[in-house]
Amino acid sequence: MTTHRPAGVHAAWLPPEAFRAIGSRRTLVHGAGLLVGTVHQEVEQACARYGGAVVRLEPRTAGEPYDGDGTFDLVLALSAPEPPLPGAAQVPACLRGEGRHPAQPTGDEGYTLARQGGVTVVLADAPAGLLYGLFHVVRLGESAFGGDRAPELHRPAVRSRMLDHWDNVDVHPVMGQVERGYSGGSIFWRDGAPRGDLARVRAYARLLAASGVNAVALNNVNVHATETRLLTDRLGDVAALADVFRPYGIRVHLSVGFASPVVLDGLPTADPLDREVRAWWAEAAGRVYRAVPDFGGFVVKADSEGQPGPFTYGRSHADGANMLAEALAPFGGVVHWRAFVYDHQQDWRDRSTDRARAAFDHFAPLDGEFHSNVVLQVKHGPMDFQVREPVSPVIAAMPATRLAVEFQVTQEYTGQQQHVCYLGPMWSEVLGFRPWGADAPTVAAVAAGGAAYGGGAEGGGLVAVSNVGDDPYWTGHPLAQANLYAFGRLAWEPRADPVAVLDEWIDLTFVPVVSGDPEPLRSTLHAMMDGSWRSYERCTAPLGIGFMVRPGHHYGPDVDGYEYTPWGTYHFADRDGLGVDRTRASGTGFAGQYPAPWSEVYESPERCPDELLLFFHHVPYGHVLRSGSTVVQHIYDTHFAGAEEAAESRRLWQKLGAGGLVEPALHARVAERLDEQVRSAEEWQDQVNAYFFRKSGVPDAHGRRIP
Ligand code: GCU
Repeated sequence: MTTHRPAGVHAAWLPPEAFRAIGSRRTLVHGAGLLVGTVHQEVEQACARYGGAVVRLEPRTAGEPYDGDGTFDLVLALSAPEPPLPGAAQVPACLRGEGRHPAQPTGDEGYTLARQGGVTVVLADAPAGLLYGLFHVVRLGESAFGGDRAPELHRPAVRSRMLDHWDNVDVHPVMGQVERGYSGGSIFWRDGAPRGDLARVRAYARLLAASGVNAVALNNVNVHATETRLLTDRLGDVAALADVFRPYGIRVHLSVGFASPVVLDGLPTADPLDREVRAWWAEAAGRVYRAVPDFGGFVVKADSEGQPGPFTYGRSHADGANMLAEALAPFGGVVHWRAFVYDHQQDWRDRSTDRARAAFDHFAPLDGEFHSNVVLQVKHGPMDFQVREPVSPVIAAMPATRLAVEFQVTQEYTGQQQHVCYLGPMWSEVLGFRPWGADAPTVAAVAAGGAAYGGGAEGGGLVAVSNVGDDPYWTGHPLAQANLYAFGRLAWEPRADPVAVLDEWIDLTFVPVVSGDPEPLRSTLHAMMDGSWRSYERCTAPLGIGFMVRPGHHYGPDVDGYEYTPWGTYHFADRDGLGVDRTRASGTGFAGQYPAPWSEVYESPERCPDELLLFFHHVPYGHVLRSGSTVVQHIYDTHFAGAEEAAESRRLWQKLGAGGLVEPALHARVAERLDEQVRSAEEWQDQVNAYFFRKSGVPDAHGRRIP
């Protein structure tokens, strides 16, 4: 096995130079097993490049002559080595149990990091912790090897940190190889077959492990014919990928179609209560585990956007999910059952139907009915990954259910990796939101579950739709790599400051390869990226409305694009005002799905936060926001500002220039995307402003040009 990245592929946040500090020192790696082997190999490679040395000790080598002198700069060890290490008197005291955080075990993935007497030490109870500890030392660079460091315990806040790939095995005639993919083809599949480029997959696994991700679903949630066969004659393909992810502590999962027994074996029904169907799934699960013993489980999109599900048989989603859970339970597998269920064939004339209500209406009554190995996977907002949505009320409605919160790293509705849009601040806001008000648990605590959630159900973790493809920069827009990195880091530590996470990404990705002062690069990237999510919001749909995009591919402005379609997303703009009345008093009642205090806050146009006003209320154009501006003036101001900010980003990037600080090809790729961003932001500005000027007849207070 080699971890060298494939030729022509950008190193992202693991350039070899990021290992300089480790590679030039002496390291002891202690412990047995596959993941410890990965740790050793990573250090060995760094040493081969930078002249350091690494000693590997395994318990089975105890008693063999030990030729080291016991002086190490870095020790990476499984705790409490048994039997004692050879030359134990010479190896650092912490390896003998001293210097370890006394009462707190590190768990399956955590580690203790300390520095005493000139030795940096990572101790972990389990091999995955050692791998995460190694990447922590990589992030610290030289600073890992200076001064003393009191023992720090690091453990992930949530157990499951998962990426879902919306990759099609076959090319879909409309969606292509990757649904909502903006980075080229799949790194797993091409034209109905595995790509077989395992070096690329290995490089990906390594990047994910370094960001903290520990689970991956290999195929699209919209399961078509070829993907269904992953469960049967394509299992070898799945096993081959699992073999590549395993050394990085990542388990693979599969999206499966609910109708698989019918599609694959011609059973007359897929009714979850039918004995034959249940036996079919039990057999299917057994087959998968024979091929992939550490398989993670199934991801299911059922009764959603045309996918089959239990409703066809008059059964509930709990019946459907529990049947699959029972099939997986003997092997320790989990079902990720998605809560993205709504009527996508509604009549736009019927104002009582509200897509925002759907997930809560379907799932909240089922709380307590799901088996313990069912994770209900809930989109973070009630709609569909818009640039601004309230937090989904489902998250606060199911204390007896394992919930996972789902994000979208792929920028379907946030600029499609043409616009710079760093999503860390959005996710951080969602994760820190307290659905029950101050002092009550956060969304992150619900995803973590257990003690963090006041003793509630075990958490289902965090999930996101991946944004990578076979593009040389992985993510189309090179700066979109930051979103992938930030998802993993925030899933590990939801309280981390997203700007600090961005800084970390800059530090790893760019700084090690820069010759000279990296500060101009750092400040340019921060100026372009820190506020780019809010800038994208200013550019596009105002005050929580969402969806003013071109139907189908979802890029670029189309204010009425969804207004009269069956998908159920409306702004209801007329000559007097706009917004969706979702109050209990006079609207769809959606605001009532929240517990207090938010049910009251959202119900009131005076108390509702500006950025969500039009999600909850229909108001006149002259309505004065909490900011002091009127709604229509806010629309004009933000759209002019959004376009100006795009132009300013381009100016900063041009000023930075190609050459010493950024390699020319990468500079050119970003420059090309910025040209498109500027064009697109102007298009948004002109269409949205013109639309609302024509509807309202209210001129811009500053007399700017509205076409
Ligand atoms: C969005 C997206 C679809 C996707 C769906 C989902 O609606 O446009 O492509 O299938 O989300 O989450 O399943």
